[in-house]
Amino acid sequence: MPDKKTYYITTPIYYPSGNMHIGHTYTTVAADTMTRFKKMQGYDTYFLTGLDEHGQKIEKKAQEAGVTPQEYVDMIAVETKALWKLMDIENDDFIRTTEERHMKIVQKIFKQFYDQGDIYKSEYEGMYCTPCESFWTPTQLVDKDGEKVCPDCGRPCQPMKEESYFFRMSKYQDWLIDYIETHPDFIQPASRANEMLTNFLRPGLQDLCVSRTSFKWGVPVDFDDKHVVYVWIDALSNYITALGYGTDHDELFQKYWPADVHLVGKEIVRFHTIYWPIMLHALGLPLPKQVFGHGWLLFGADKMSKSKGNVVYPGPIVERYGVDSLRYYLMREMPFGADGNYTNESFLTRANADLANDLGNLVSRTVAMIEKYFDGLVPAWDESAVDKELDAPLHEHCAALPKLVEEQMNKLQFSQALVEIWKVIGECNKYIDATQPWVLGRDPEKQGRLGNVLLTLAECIRFVAVLIGPVMPHTPARIFEQLGVTDPMLMTWESLDSFGRLPAGTKVCKGEALFPRLDVKKELEALAPKKEEKKPEPAPKKEEKKEPKKVEIPEGCVSIDEFFRCKLRVAKVLSCEAVKKSDKLLKFELDLGNGERRVILSGIHKFYEPEQLLGRNLVIIANLPPRKMMGIESNGMILSAVEKKEDGSEYLRVLTVDGDIAPGSEVG
Ligand code: MSP
Repeated sequence: MPDKKTYYITTPIYYPSGNMHIGHTYTTVAADTMTRFKKMQGYDTYFLTGLDEHGQKIEKKAQEAGVTPQEYVDMIAVETKALWKLMDIENDDFIRTTEERHMKIVQKIFKQFYDQGDIYKSEYEGMYCTPCESFWTPTQLVDKDGEKVCPDCGRPCQPMKEESYFFRMSKYQDWLIDYIETHPDFIQPASRANEMLTNFLRPGLQDLCVSRTSFKWGVPVDFDDKHVVYVWIDALSNYITALGYGTDHDELFQKYWPADVHLVGKEIVRFHTIYWPIMLHALGLPLPKQVFGHGWLLFGADKMSKSKGNVVYPGPIVERYGVDSLRYYLMREMPFGADGNYTNESFLTRANADLANDLGNLVSRTVAMIEKYFDGLVPAWDESAVDKELDAPLHEHCAALPKLVEEQMNKLQFSQALVEIWKVIGECNKYIDATQPWVLGRDPEKQGRLGNVLLTLAECIRFVAVLIGPVMPHTPARIFEQLGVTDPMLMTWESLDSFGRLPAGTKVCKGEALFPRLDVKKELEALAPKKEEKKPEPAPKKEEKKEPKKVEIPEGCVSIDEFFRCKLRVAKVLSCEAVKKSDKLLKFELDLGNGERRVILSGIHKFYEPEQLLGRNLVIIANLPPRKMMGIESNGMILSAVEKKEDGSEYLRVLTVDGDIAPGSEVG
């Protein structure tokens, strides 16, 4: 048997200067998603994350907390590991730069650089940003209100001078320019490669200061005890020290290096695509195949960061909505590479739209219909009841889905991969509208056709369940339970090689809603930080009242004012069910936007089956007084058009809107 292909992926090692927030979670979930995807495809994967525990900032934090630096980082390490467990992160190792296995090798690497003349001793003079632990050259500083500030955090920098060791970066500059130019996949997105070439490499590389004497919390330089190794040689080496590089037990290094991809935020692309390749080249080692610089989760217009104090932590969100919803949101909301804004509202809206409505409804409708029409047993395919025009496009699209997802995942385009999956979910929901299983269900001669429709849906759902697994590790099992899939083979990537593997006779089992619909308004209140006392609202300014002009209204007409007293709104159907003991009534739960929900009863069961209207945008009168029917309060009226036929019968269709529009939109 040939050895499995390997896949080594890393996150940055994070500074433990506080607990990890949703920004760190973003990178870690992305790495975990990719690992799970590759594992599903049969790769031998290795996923590394960890903490970058040295430096002046940590020393200070510990001092403020009244503990030693080691005690401080130990505490954060425990919290970080607990957070990754909560987020269902399956990392293979967790490297901490204060571990002996790391420090010993960093010393060895530093010494080798010194011995081979890559590192030399000199004096450093420059502008230093303490919170970012970065020296900046005068051209890198940014002008803010006449003051030169740190380009990363916008805070003032101080002049600093000290004896330091330097790495001769300039020596490798031409080699690196050539490497980047001849390896277009090395830095992704490609725009970041241009940034590196234009802003840093072509203007000429400065030698890098790699030691400090002004603080002690670092890896000691073993041949010059005044110095500790300064940040980047210490931090970047983690990617190889964790694999046992430089020791007698370097099997992992032999197996997994070079890394397939380092995932990093865009602010540290520079260190990973300039200093790190040069260090590796100087050690005679191959470079990672790719460094991917992703965008930031912003909070308003700002990068979320511990030092700015504008952070969102994942704990409360996961506790309330489950880990899969948050992982889905993080991977779906913004293209990997671009910035995006985190808001509780966008999280809740997406959870409702994509998870509760699109995916959740598809599963519950399909399972409910298999129970209703086939005693819960997945029907067999009936060749004589095929509708080529309706079935073939969906079968083909679903069969092609794994390839489409794979293409996007290989580019780390998580969001786009999910878009592809959700296209099939959307097509399934449209297929239900087009095939109208509830109509087929009324005609015993259409059993075969109905069976084909439901089998098609169930098989599409199986594909979806397998493919969402890397992003949402818990949801597939819940879907398989409802679908009645117990054969582990049917849960694999390989089983998606052909459409139609789901066996007839599989016993479905309706369960709880996969993602209960959220009342956005209520949830926003629950998630909001506790407010300070509300200031009394300022009294509204009195406006001079103008007498409206009187207009004559002809007999039989309504004035425009009278018409507008009738509040017509768009309402999206969240759920719909027949009212017990009534032939006519359907009970609708409707979404009116901004978290507002309504129950309206409508006597249209003769014309519609409940499943038929799920997810549709209807038009309602929203300001009728409440009315009780069959013991249930109805709050409004669904508008419909009624055709009176010659034989005295009636035909009714509800009013919908042309195209997609937000629930709650006013009609008029
Ligand atoms: N310790 C260095 C990295 C050394 S790697 C050899 C460091 N640590 S950090 O704690 O500041 O983490 C930075 C990383 O956390 C970013 O590169 C990114 O992966 C992640 N993020 C932190 N805040 C983030 C956002 N607001 N948005 C997206 N990612 C964020 O830099």
